[in-house]
Amino acid sequence: MSAPIAAGVGAPYARLLSVASYVPSRVVDNAEMCTFIDSSDEWIQQRTGIAERRWVGEGETVETMALAAARTAVERAGIDPADIGAVIVSTVTYFHQTPSLAAKLAYELGTNGAAFDISAACAGFCYGLAQAESLVRSGAAKYAVVIGVEELSRFTDIHDRSTAFLFADGAGAAVVGPSETNGIGPVVWGSDGSQADAINQTSEWSEAMQGGTQPYIAMDGRAVFKWASGFIADATKKVLEVAQLSPEELDVFIPHQANNRITDAMLRHLKLPENVVVARTIKQFGNNSAASVPMAMDQLLSTGQAKSGQTALLIGFGAGLVYAGQVVTLP
Ligand SMILES: CC(C)(COP(=O)(O)OP(=O)(O)OC[C@H]1O[C@@H](n2cnc3c(N)ncnc32)[C@H](O)[C@@H]1OP(=O)(O)O)[C@@H](O)C(=O)NCCC(=O)NCCS
Repeated sequence: MSAPIAAGVGAPYARLLSVASYVPSRVVDNAEMCTFIDSSDEWIQQRTGIAERRWVGEGETVETMALAAARTAVERAGIDPADIGAVIVSTVTYFHQTPSLAAKLAYELGTNGAAFDISAACAGFCYGLAQAESLVRSGAAKYAVVIGVEELSRFTDIHDRSTAFLFADGAGAAVVGPSETNGIGPVVWGSDGSQADAINQTSEWSEAMQGGTQPYIAMDGRAVFKWASGFIADATKKVLEVAQLSPEELDVFIPHQANNRITDAMLRHLKLPENVVVARTIKQFGNNSAASVPMAMDQLLSTGQAKSGQTALLIGFGAGLVYAGQVVTLP
Protein backbone atom coordinates (compact mmCIF):
# COMPACT_ATOMS: atom_id res chain seq x y z
CA MET A 1 0.00 0.00 0.00
CA SER A 2 1.33 3.45 -0.81
CA ALA A 3 2.10 5.86 2.04
CA PRO A 4 -0.79 8.19 2.92
CA ILE A 5 -0.25 11.69 1.52
CA ALA A 6 -1.58 14.62 3.54
CA ALA A 7 -4.14 16.75 1.69
CA GLY A 8 -3.95 20.55 1.76
CA VAL A 9 -6.21 22.28 4.27
CA GLY A 10 -7.70 25.57 3.19
CA ALA A 11 -10.44 27.99 4.16
CA PRO A 12 -14.07 26.80 4.28
CA TYR A 13 -14.98 29.46 1.71
CA ALA A 14 -13.43 32.27 -0.28
CA ARG A 15 -14.58 35.80 -1.07
CA LEU A 16 -13.47 38.97 -2.80
CA LEU A 17 -11.71 41.22 -0.28
CA SER A 18 -11.15 44.13 -2.65
CA VAL A 19 -11.17 45.31 -6.24
CA ALA A 20 -9.29 48.16 -7.94
CA SER A 21 -8.61 49.43 -11.42
CA TYR A 22 -6.27 51.59 -13.42
CA VAL A 23 -7.73 53.80 -16.13
CA PRO A 24 -5.15 54.88 -18.74
CA SER A 25 -4.74 58.62 -19.34
CA ARG A 26 -5.36 59.07 -23.06
CA VAL A 27 -9.02 59.63 -24.01
CA VAL A 28 -9.80 58.70 -27.62
CA ASP A 29 -13.32 59.79 -28.49
CA ASN A 30 -15.28 58.68 -31.52
CA ALA A 31 -14.42 61.89 -33.38
CA GLU A 32 -10.70 61.04 -33.10
CA MET A 33 -11.43 57.38 -33.94
CA CYS A 34 -13.08 58.56 -37.17
CA THR A 35 -9.79 60.16 -38.24
CA PHE A 36 -8.42 56.56 -38.44
CA ILE A 37 -11.42 54.73 -39.94
CA ASP A 38 -14.34 55.55 -42.21
CA SER A 39 -17.10 55.61 -39.58
CA SER A 40 -19.17 57.99 -37.48
CA ASP A 41 -19.86 58.71 -33.82
CA GLU A 42 -23.51 57.83 -34.44
CA TRP A 43 -22.70 54.42 -36.01
CA ILE A 44 -20.24 53.45 -33.27
CA GLN A 45 -22.57 54.51 -30.44
CA GLN A 46 -25.61 52.87 -32.00
CA ARG A 47 -23.83 49.55 -32.81
CA THR A 48 -21.75 49.23 -29.64
CA GLY A 49 -22.59 51.89 -27.01
CA ILE A 50 -18.99 53.21 -27.06
CA ALA A 51 -18.59 57.00 -26.88
CA GLU A 52 -14.89 57.04 -26.06
CA ARG A 53 -12.14 54.64 -25.01
CA ARG A 54 -8.84 54.86 -23.12
CA TRP A 55 -5.44 54.19 -24.62
CA VAL A 56 -2.12 54.22 -22.81
CA GLY A 57 -0.33 57.56 -22.68
CA GLU A 58 3.25 58.54 -21.92
CA GLY A 59 4.92 56.07 -19.51
CA GLU A 60 1.93 53.71 -19.27
CA THR A 61 2.43 50.04 -20.14
CA VAL A 62 0.80 46.70 -19.37
CA GLU A 63 3.24 46.38 -16.47
CA THR A 64 2.64 49.85 -14.95
CA MET A 65 -1.15 49.56 -15.28
CA ALA A 66 -1.26 46.08 -13.76
CA LEU A 67 0.99 47.06 -10.87
CA ALA A 68 -1.03 50.20 -10.08
CA ALA A 69 -4.32 48.26 -10.01
CA ALA A 70 -2.85 45.38 -7.99
CA ARG A 71 -1.16 47.70 -5.43
CA THR A 72 -4.43 49.51 -4.79
CA ALA A 73 -6.31 46.20 -4.50
CA VAL A 74 -3.78 44.88 -1.93
CA GLU A 75 -3.95 48.16 0.05
CA ARG A 76 -7.75 48.06 0.04
CA ALA A 77 -7.74 44.44 1.21
CA GLY A 78 -5.55 45.51 4.15
CA ILE A 79 -3.43 42.36 3.99
CA ASP A 80 0.29 41.80 4.44
CA PRO A 81 1.71 41.32 0.91
CA ALA A 82 3.93 38.53 2.27
CA ASP A 83 0.73 36.48 2.81
CA ILE A 84 -0.17 36.56 -0.88
CA GLY A 85 0.22 32.95 -1.97
CA ALA A 86 -0.59 33.41 -5.65
CA VAL A 87 -0.56 36.15 -8.28
CA ILE A 88 -2.52 35.33 -11.44
CA VAL A 89 -2.36 37.67 -14.43
CA SER A 90 -4.63 37.37 -17.42
CA THR A 91 -3.54 39.24 -20.53
CA VAL A 92 -3.14 38.74 -24.28
CA THR A 93 -1.04 41.87 -24.69
CA TYR A 94 2.13 41.30 -22.68
CA PHE A 95 4.58 41.01 -25.54
CA HIS A 96 7.38 39.45 -23.53
CA GLN A 97 7.44 35.69 -23.93
CA THR A 98 9.20 34.88 -20.65
CA PRO A 99 9.34 35.37 -17.69
CA SER A 100 5.70 35.89 -16.83
CA LEU A 101 4.31 39.31 -15.96
CA ALA A 102 2.87 37.74 -12.81
CA ALA A 103 6.33 36.87 -11.43
CA LYS A 104 7.51 40.46 -11.88
CA LEU A 105 4.36 41.85 -10.30
CA ALA A 106 4.57 39.42 -7.36
CA TYR A 107 8.04 40.75 -6.61
CA GLU A 108 6.89 44.38 -6.93
CA LEU A 109 3.95 43.65 -4.62
CA GLY A 110 6.27 42.15 -1.99
CA THR A 111 5.54 38.42 -2.17
CA ASN A 112 7.41 35.28 -3.14
CA GLY A 113 4.14 33.44 -3.75
CA ALA A 114 3.31 31.41 -6.84
CA ALA A 115 2.92 33.56 -9.95
CA PHE A 116 1.70 32.76 -13.43
CA ASP A 117 0.04 34.31 -16.50
CA ILE A 118 -3.02 32.86 -18.19
CA SER A 119 -4.40 33.41 -21.68
CA ALA A 120 -8.18 33.42 -21.64
CA ALA A 121 -8.81 36.70 -23.47
CA CYS A 122 -11.95 38.54 -22.33
CA ALA A 123 -12.91 35.67 -19.99
CA GLY A 124 -9.50 35.96 -18.28
CA PHE A 125 -10.52 37.70 -15.08
CA CYS A 126 -13.32 35.21 -14.42
CA TYR A 127 -10.95 32.32 -15.25
CA GLY A 128 -8.42 33.73 -12.77
CA LEU A 129 -11.09 34.26 -10.13
CA ALA A 130 -12.18 30.62 -10.41
CA GLN A 131 -8.59 29.50 -9.89
CA ALA A 132 -8.05 31.91 -6.98
CA GLU A 133 -11.18 30.65 -5.25
CA SER A 134 -9.98 27.05 -5.56
CA LEU A 135 -6.46 27.90 -4.36
CA VAL A 136 -7.80 29.61 -1.22
CA ARG A 137 -10.18 26.76 -0.45
CA SER A 138 -7.56 24.06 -1.08
CA GLY A 139 -4.98 25.74 1.14
CA ALA A 140 -2.56 26.30 -1.75
CA ALA A 141 -2.74 30.05 -1.10
CA LYS A 142 -3.95 32.15 1.83
CA TYR A 143 -4.63 35.15 -0.40
CA ALA A 144 -4.58 35.33 -4.20
CA VAL A 145 -4.38 38.42 -6.40
CA VAL A 146 -6.14 38.22 -9.76
CA ILE A 147 -5.22 40.83 -12.37
CA GLY A 148 -6.72 41.46 -15.81
CA VAL A 149 -4.70 43.86 -17.93
CA GLU A 150 -4.61 44.79 -21.61
CA GLU A 151 -2.92 47.20 -23.96
CA LEU A 152 -5.09 46.37 -26.95
CA SER A 153 -4.26 49.69 -28.65
CA ARG A 154 -0.91 48.07 -29.53
CA PHE A 155 -2.55 44.92 -30.88
CA THR A 156 -5.34 46.56 -32.89
CA ASP A 157 -4.95 47.89 -36.42
CA ILE A 158 -6.34 51.40 -35.94
CA HIS A 159 -7.20 51.52 -39.65
CA ASP A 160 -9.32 48.35 -39.55
CA ARG A 161 -12.93 49.54 -39.40
CA SER A 162 -14.13 46.13 -38.14
CA THR A 163 -12.10 46.29 -34.89
CA ALA A 164 -10.44 49.68 -34.30
CA PHE A 165 -13.40 51.35 -32.54
CA LEU A 166 -13.93 48.47 -30.08
CA PHE A 167 -10.68 47.68 -28.32
CA ALA A 168 -9.01 49.63 -25.54
CA ASP A 169 -6.52 49.57 -22.67
CA GLY A 170 -6.76 49.28 -18.87
CA ALA A 171 -6.24 47.11 -15.81
CA GLY A 172 -8.30 45.70 -12.97
CA ALA A 173 -7.29 43.62 -9.95
CA ALA A 174 -8.93 41.85 -7.04
CA VAL A 175 -7.78 40.12 -3.87
CA VAL A 176 -9.41 36.80 -2.96
CA GLY A 177 -9.12 35.52 0.60
CA PRO A 178 -10.57 33.16 3.20
CA SER A 179 -14.10 33.56 4.49
CA GLU A 180 -16.51 31.91 6.93
CA THR A 181 -19.40 32.38 4.47
CA ASN A 182 -19.34 31.79 0.74
CA GLY A 183 -18.61 34.84 -1.40
CA ILE A 184 -17.79 33.23 -4.76
CA GLY A 185 -20.21 30.83 -6.44
CA PRO A 186 -19.30 27.83 -8.61
CA VAL A 187 -17.77 28.75 -11.94
CA VAL A 188 -19.54 27.96 -15.20
CA TRP A 189 -16.87 27.85 -17.86
CA GLY A 190 -15.83 26.23 -21.10
CA SER A 191 -14.42 26.66 -24.58
CA ASP A 192 -15.28 26.16 -28.24
CA GLY A 193 -12.08 25.77 -30.23
CA SER A 194 -14.05 25.08 -33.39
CA GLN A 195 -14.56 28.86 -33.46
CA ALA A 196 -10.89 29.68 -32.90
CA ASP A 197 -10.90 31.85 -36.03
CA ALA A 198 -13.77 34.07 -34.84
CA ILE A 199 -11.30 36.25 -32.90
CA ASN A 200 -7.73 35.61 -33.94
CA GLN A 201 -4.52 37.35 -34.87
CA THR A 202 -3.85 38.19 -38.50
CA SER A 203 -0.46 36.40 -38.70
CA GLU A 204 2.22 34.68 -36.63
CA TRP A 205 4.80 36.73 -34.71
CA SER A 206 7.51 34.67 -36.46
CA GLU A 207 6.50 36.31 -39.76
CA ALA A 208 6.95 39.76 -38.21
CA MET A 209 10.38 38.66 -36.95
CA GLN A 210 11.31 37.82 -40.56
CA GLY A 211 10.46 41.33 -41.71
CA GLY A 212 6.70 41.01 -42.12
CA THR A 213 4.10 43.25 -40.52
CA GLN A 214 3.09 42.74 -36.89
CA PRO A 215 -0.06 40.69 -36.20
CA TYR A 216 -3.25 42.46 -35.19
CA ILE A 217 -6.60 41.28 -33.83
CA ALA A 218 -8.99 40.11 -36.52
CA MET A 219 -12.61 39.35 -35.75
CA ASP A 220 -15.70 37.94 -37.36
CA GLY A 221 -18.02 40.37 -35.57
CA ARG A 222 -21.26 38.70 -36.64
CA ALA A 223 -20.14 35.22 -35.49
CA VAL A 224 -19.05 36.57 -32.11
CA PHE A 225 -22.26 38.53 -31.73
CA LYS A 226 -24.38 35.44 -32.48
CA TRP A 227 -22.43 33.23 -30.04
CA ALA A 228 -22.47 35.83 -27.26
CA SER A 229 -26.14 36.70 -27.49
CA GLY A 230 -27.21 33.03 -27.76
CA PHE A 231 -24.88 30.48 -26.20
CA ILE A 232 -23.34 32.89 -23.68
CA ALA A 233 -26.72 34.22 -22.62
CA ASP A 234 -27.65 30.58 -21.81
CA ALA A 235 -24.38 30.04 -19.92
CA THR A 236 -25.08 33.20 -17.91
CA LYS A 237 -28.41 31.73 -16.86
CA LYS A 238 -26.55 28.61 -15.67
CA VAL A 239 -24.25 30.77 -13.51
CA LEU A 240 -27.28 31.83 -11.49
CA GLU A 241 -28.66 28.28 -11.40
CA VAL A 242 -25.48 26.70 -10.01
CA ALA A 243 -25.34 29.42 -7.34
CA GLN A 244 -28.95 28.47 -6.55
CA LEU A 245 -30.16 32.04 -6.89
CA SER A 246 -33.19 33.49 -8.66
CA PRO A 247 -32.95 36.65 -10.83
CA GLU A 248 -34.79 38.50 -8.02
CA GLU A 249 -31.92 37.77 -5.63
CA LEU A 250 -29.40 39.51 -7.84
CA ASP A 251 -28.37 43.16 -7.26
CA VAL A 252 -25.77 43.75 -9.96
CA PHE A 253 -24.96 42.32 -13.41
CA ILE A 254 -21.40 42.77 -14.69
CA PRO A 255 -21.03 41.24 -18.14
CA HIS A 256 -17.80 41.58 -20.10
CA GLN A 257 -17.99 44.97 -21.77
CA ALA A 258 -17.99 43.76 -25.38
CA ASN A 259 -20.99 45.55 -26.79
CA ASN A 260 -24.12 47.09 -25.22
CA ARG A 261 -26.29 45.23 -27.73
CA ILE A 262 -24.86 41.91 -26.48
CA THR A 263 -25.62 43.04 -22.91
CA ASP A 264 -29.18 43.92 -24.00
CA ALA A 265 -29.64 40.48 -25.59
CA MET A 266 -28.44 38.83 -22.36
CA LEU A 267 -30.82 40.91 -20.28
CA ARG A 268 -33.77 39.87 -22.46
CA HIS A 269 -32.73 36.24 -21.99
CA LEU A 270 -32.12 36.44 -18.23
CA LYS A 271 -35.28 38.44 -17.50
CA LEU A 272 -33.55 40.32 -14.69
CA PRO A 273 -35.72 42.63 -12.59
CA GLU A 274 -35.59 46.36 -13.49
CA ASN A 275 -33.77 47.27 -10.27
CA VAL A 276 -30.67 45.16 -11.07
CA VAL A 277 -27.75 47.53 -11.72
CA VAL A 278 -26.16 46.70 -15.08
CA ALA A 279 -22.54 47.62 -15.86
CA ARG A 280 -22.24 49.70 -19.04
CA THR A 281 -18.75 51.10 -18.62
CA ILE A 282 -18.09 50.31 -22.29
CA LYS A 283 -19.44 53.81 -22.97
CA GLN A 284 -16.30 55.48 -21.55
CA PHE A 285 -13.80 52.63 -21.60
CA GLY A 286 -14.47 50.51 -24.70
CA ASN A 287 -13.68 46.79 -24.63
CA ASN A 288 -10.55 46.19 -22.54
CA SER A 289 -10.75 42.38 -22.61
CA ALA A 290 -9.40 40.74 -19.41
CA ALA A 291 -9.58 44.10 -17.61
CA SER A 292 -13.21 44.86 -18.39
CA VAL A 293 -15.02 42.96 -15.60
CA PRO A 294 -12.84 44.20 -12.68
CA MET A 295 -12.73 47.73 -14.13
CA ALA A 296 -16.52 47.76 -14.37
CA MET A 297 -16.86 46.36 -10.83
CA ASP A 298 -14.54 49.01 -9.43
CA GLN A 299 -16.35 51.80 -11.31
CA LEU A 300 -19.78 50.69 -10.06
CA LEU A 301 -18.51 50.55 -6.46
CA SER A 302 -16.54 53.80 -6.56
CA THR A 303 -19.43 55.75 -8.10
CA GLY A 304 -21.91 54.36 -5.57
CA GLN A 305 -24.03 52.58 -8.20
CA ALA A 306 -23.23 49.28 -6.46
CA LYS A 307 -22.46 48.62 -2.81
CA SER A 308 -20.22 46.31 -0.83
CA GLY A 309 -22.09 43.16 0.21
CA GLN A 310 -24.39 43.12 -2.82
CA THR A 311 -24.73 40.03 -5.00
CA ALA A 312 -23.28 40.35 -8.51
CA LEU A 313 -23.26 38.08 -11.54
CA LEU A 314 -20.04 38.16 -13.57
CA ILE A 315 -19.59 36.71 -17.06
CA GLY A 316 -16.57 36.96 -19.34
CA PHE A 317 -16.34 35.65 -22.92
CA GLY A 318 -14.01 36.06 -25.86
CA ALA A 319 -11.24 34.70 -28.08
CA GLY A 320 -10.80 30.96 -28.00
CA LEU A 321 -13.72 31.01 -27.96
CA VAL A 322 -13.80 30.77 -24.14
CA TYR A 323 -16.12 31.86 -21.36
CA ALA A 324 -16.39 31.85 -17.56
CA GLY A 325 -18.79 33.30 -15.03
CA GLN A 326 -19.64 33.20 -11.35
CA VAL A 327 -21.82 34.95 -8.78
CA VAL A 328 -19.90 36.96 -6.17
CA THR A 329 -20.53 39.07 -3.12
CA LEU A 330 -19.12 42.50 -3.94
CA PRO A 331 -16.11 43.50 -1.80
C1 LIG B 1 -18.37 44.65 -34.75
C2 LIG B 1 -19.85 44.93 -34.83
C3 LIG B 1 -20.18 46.19 -34.03
C4 LIG B 1 -20.20 45.21 -36.29
O1 LIG B 1 -21.58 45.45 -36.40
P1 LIG B 1 -22.43 44.69 -37.50
O2 LIG B 1 -23.79 45.20 -37.40
O3 LIG B 1 -22.20 43.22 -37.34
O4 LIG B 1 -21.72 45.23 -38.81
P2 LIG B 1 -21.54 44.51 -40.22
O5 LIG B 1 -20.14 44.07 -40.36
O6 LIG B 1 -22.63 43.50 -40.43
O7 LIG B 1 -21.80 45.72 -41.20
C5 LIG B 1 -23.07 46.38 -41.25
C6 LIG B 1 -22.92 47.66 -42.03
O8 LIG B 1 -22.11 48.59 -41.29
C7 LIG B 1 -20.98 48.98 -42.10
N1 LIG B 1 -19.85 49.12 -41.22
C8 LIG B 1 -18.99 48.14 -40.78
N2 LIG B 1 -18.07 48.67 -39.96
C9 LIG B 1 -18.35 49.99 -39.87
C10 LIG B 1 -17.77 51.06 -39.16
N3 LIG B 1 -16.71 50.90 -38.36
N4 LIG B 1 -18.33 52.29 -39.28
C11 LIG B 1 -19.39 52.50 -40.07
N5 LIG B 1 -19.98 51.52 -40.77
C12 LIG B 1 -19.47 50.30 -40.68
C13 LIG B 1 -20.80 47.87 -43.10
O9 LIG B 1 -20.14 48.33 -44.25
C14 LIG B 1 -22.22 47.46 -43.38
O10 LIG B 1 -22.79 48.41 -44.28
P3 LIG B 1 -23.89 47.94 -45.38
O11 LIG B 1 -25.08 47.45 -44.56
O12 LIG B 1 -24.15 49.21 -46.12
O13 LIG B 1 -23.24 46.85 -46.15
C15 LIG B 1 -20.70 43.74 -34.32
O14 LIG B 1 -20.62 42.66 -35.20
C16 LIG B 1 -20.26 43.29 -32.97
O15 LIG B 1 -20.28 44.04 -32.01
N6 LIG B 1 -19.89 42.01 -32.84
C17 LIG B 1 -19.41 41.47 -31.57
C18 LIG B 1 -17.98 41.86 -31.43
C19 LIG B 1 -17.45 41.71 -30.08
O16 LIG B 1 -18.13 41.94 -29.10
N7 LIG B 1 -16.20 41.32 -30.00
C20 LIG B 1 -15.49 41.21 -28.79
C21 LIG B 1 -15.86 39.96 -28.10
S1 LIG B 1 -14.78 39.73 -26.82
